[in-house]
Amino acid sequence: MKIFSKSGFIILFYSLSLHSIAIISKAQHPPYPQSVNNSGLKDYYQNYFPVGVAVSLKNLKGDESNLIIQQFNSITPENVMKMGALHPKENLYYWKDADSIVAFARRNGLKVRGHNLCWHQQTPNWMFKDSAGKQVTKEVLLKRLKEHISAVVTRYKGKIYAWDVVNEAVSDKGDEYLRNSLWYQICGEDYIAKAFEYAHEADQSAILFYNDYGEINPSKRKKIIRLINQLKAANVSVQGIGLQCHWKIDSPVKEQLDSTLKEFSALLLPIQITELDMSVYPKQKANNTDSINASTDTLYTFVREKQQTELYKLSFELFRKYKNNITGVTFWNLSDRHSWLDDFKGRKRKDYPLLFDRNLQPKKAYETIIHW
Ligand code: GLA
Repeated sequence: MKIFSKSGFIILFYSLSLHSIAIISKAQHPPYPQSVNNSGLKDYYQNYFPVGVAVSLKNLKGDESNLIIQQFNSITPENVMKMGALHPKENLYYWKDADSIVAFARRNGLKVRGHNLCWHQQTPNWMFKDSAGKQVTKEVLLKRLKEHISAVVTRYKGKIYAWDVVNEAVSDKGDEYLRNSLWYQICGEDYIAKAFEYAHEADQSAILFYNDYGEINPSKRKKIIRLINQLKAANVSVQGIGLQCHWKIDSPVKEQLDSTLKEFSALLLPIQITELDMSVYPKQKANNTDSINASTDTLYTFVREKQQTELYKLSFELFRKYKNNITGVTFWNLSDRHSWLDDFKGRKRKDYPLLFDRNLQPKKAYETIIHW
């Protein structure tokens, strides 16, 4: 019996191929490499630096909590230690969530980085206003800053080994040195040195960091270095430089990252990579909105995955090269299941910036940073 005519066979073959193309494009990726033993990043990097992750309370349960314990030896509370979260009203501190994260770390033998003590965002409005709603004086603001920092740092003394004391004080604008925040408008640049002084008074053994982003941009980098040098010259107890490292798959390139790490190393202070992630959207597309209607599964293409894998590989090669200066590397969020970059700035766009996929499986990038 003749089952297919020649043209019928061609039609069948054609529709089968379409079907498999559909299956492939739906699946997008071959299976990711599985972890072969119970080792995690903390073990592969034990002779280099602690490897950390920024967490929310939600991450500390179930499969995510297992992954944290398997892979990392340090955590940073993503949001719950920010001023607005911890100190919503002048006479009210809310400790519960931060305490839970610190308790989780202690139960599981993880270090904790405190984040952060003074920032221009996520700061409660009351901080800058008096009871009549008028802006407070420099004297009042510094007194409030001191009270806040003393209370927080004292509470976690001996439990938090490093603090991001001042976050993002440097301006992104070419011709402006320090950011024109309310802190700056009210106190001038003194608030920066004061924040370090208050933190040091409260805990002499915590390592105190200045933390900022844009480190790979030469003009911003120059300003961050200028600030650190200025603080050192004034004997301020700045003891480490936090480089956030929120990157894109096409940025930084090798020379740029190498010179970034070289220039910061020359300051002779410990460096920590504090908020590492790699958005799969290229730099020039950072503000592009044309993917708004794309389905989540079509955005993370092979090409993007490959580029991201290469950048992770390169970054860790350079982190290892500067191991004498780098004392910690922290990822900003755990997995592509959810990160702060999803729908960032209102763009309805899923991102895939981390080393673990939405099923918490290690991605190819993971393999390239554990085998060298
Ligand atoms: C900055 C802050 C972090 C966090 C990220 C976005 O980098 O330092 O605390 O808010 O932005 O999640």
